[in-house]
Amino acid sequence: MSKQIVLTGIKPTGVPHLGNFLGAIKPAIELANMPEYEARYFIADYHSLNSIRDPEVLKEYTYEVAASWLACGLDPSKALIYRQSDIPETFELTTILMAFTAKGLMNRAHAYKAQVDVNNEKKNPPDHGINMGLYTYPVLMAADILLFDSNLVPVGRDQKQHIEMAQDIAEAINHNYGKPLLTIPEPRINEETETVTGLDGRKMSKSYGNTITLFLPEKKLKKTINKIVTNSQALEEPKDPETCSVFALYKLFATKEEQDKLATVYRAGGMGWGFAKNELFEKINEVLTPIRTRYEELMADKSVIDNILLEGSAKARILAAEKIKVLRNAMGFRV
Ligand code: TRP
Repeated sequence: MSKQIVLTGIKPTGVPHLGNFLGAIKPAIELANMPEYEARYFIADYHSLNSIRDPEVLKEYTYEVAASWLACGLDPSKALIYRQSDIPETFELTTILMAFTAKGLMNRAHAYKAQVDVNNEKKNPPDHGINMGLYTYPVLMAADILLFDSNLVPVGRDQKQHIEMAQDIAEAINHNYGKPLLTIPEPRINEETETVTGLDGRKMSKSYGNTITLFLPEKKLKKTINKIVTNSQALEEPKDPETCSVFALYKLFATKEEQDKLATVYRAGGMGWGFAKNELFEKINEVLTPIRTRYEELMADKSVIDNILLEGSAKARILAAEKIKVLRNAMGFRV
């Protein structure tokens, strides 16, 4: 059987946090390392243009996100890594898809609707502050996916609707031309993001401001972990590991034996929160130290990242050009 194509886009929004690491980066790297998949992971920088208008910030975020994935173990010999903005075929396909995308479909997009809701609440006109980039965001995303005949698209739950829209648009085109010009992609939801607990006990998310960023220097990491909200039980009281945010995070990094050991200390009483937090710090620091070192090396000499991204886009463009040719031909354009 030929390999399944797995593709995902990473929006450059700065250094990822532990939730991104466990929920998105690690599983995507595991897929890339499996022989039955061919992985294509790109930096969705044009998607960021809707909100990031400072060129230096956009550049820096792009490097940060590329360095993060590489430091976490993404291997450019196993996955195609490129910048969306280096693949102009994406934008030609976007124009094609626009012609087959019902305006009503875009009206139903959660991200757009959420903005309209905010405007209604604030008694602004409904489309206040909404640009066409945001409104048509799902079409650009569909182009990213369909350009490479992706079979599987690993994303967070919030992106599921966008994949379904890509399916709808692709089906409209296949139906019109009476042949499977475009591959219908399937979402693969990263469940673990749901379960990574943030500093305040809610799901870890940038929008809640409760994250632990991946490459914090040791001292800052320790300080951040000390901010995890715990209950006000006294030192001598036995504590329940199952309802504790510190323990919830510990579980994600420690072995079963280590977890059992710490759980016993919790239940025995006589353990203060400072102790539990220190155990967590030691564990996370042990996992993150080699990654942090690699990240710092990559950020110190960006030419390594530049070369990887350029090589990736050169290869990706060959595939993209072939796809566009097939589409142009089927649609009656000169090829
Ligand atoms: N919209 C995605 C996000 O915000 C990023 C993205 C852009 C993407 N294009 C994509 C994800 C294509 C998967 C496939 O996370």
